[in-house]
Amino acid sequence: MKTEIKASTHLAPVSAVLVSCGDAQDSDIVTIAWAGTVNSEPPMVSISVRRSRYSYELICKTGEFVVNLVPEDMLKVLDGCGVVSGRDTDKFAKFSLTRQKCAHVSAPAIAECPVSLECVVRKTVELETHVMFIAEIVGATARADWAEGGKLRIPDGELIAYVQNRYVTTGETLGTYGFTAKK
Ligand SMILES: Cc1cc2nc3c(=O)[nH]c(=O)nc-3n(C[C@H](O)[C@H](O)[C@H](O)COP(=O)(O)O)c2cc1C
Repeated sequence: MKTEIKASTHLAPVSAVLVSCGDAQDSDIVTIAWAGTVNSEPPMVSISVRRSRYSYELICKTGEFVVNLVPEDMLKVLDGCGVVSGRDTDKFAKFSLTRQKCAHVSAPAIAECPVSLECVVRKTVELETHVMFIAEIVGATARADWAEGGKLRIPDGELIAYVQNRYVTTGETLGTYGFTAKK
């Protein structure tokens, strides 16, 4: 039997990603757990950002951001970018990260992250606590050993997932899409 619990943001596991934003003059990185895939063609993602974040100001100004996927060996960076603000800290410098020029947006990607998705905001949804930016992925880059013939190949267990307030490993493959229907 299940027992009633508080209705809340219990969806889990979710991605925890580093979103870089701004431009050559002023850039920032923000840790985001409220992110998701929202459309296939064109490929689109959403991120929900509180109005108080410095990154919110930059995304509103430029209409662009980069979603950077985070491997386990960058766990401290993932958490660290979520507890200091770009208003008073250059997070690229603080966490020894490299700004990587993007081909399709003016926001910098994070060179140390294995995958970067270059995004252009198409819709902005004003919610109560957060603003949801719905954005088209207009370009993507991946580390050479994660790319095969132009396609992304994420190795088992490399990326971090987020469950409640815990960072967890993504472990081993249990099955693949539609495996129950395959003969
Ligand atoms: C694991 C984790 C997930 C977070 N997810 C979000 C999120 O989805 N949206 C948000 O607005 N803030 C989120 N935050 C908080 C921001 O990352 C944090 O307030 C950050 O310092 C804001 O930086 P900024 O002022 O440079 O934008 C998260 C923090 C952590 C540690």
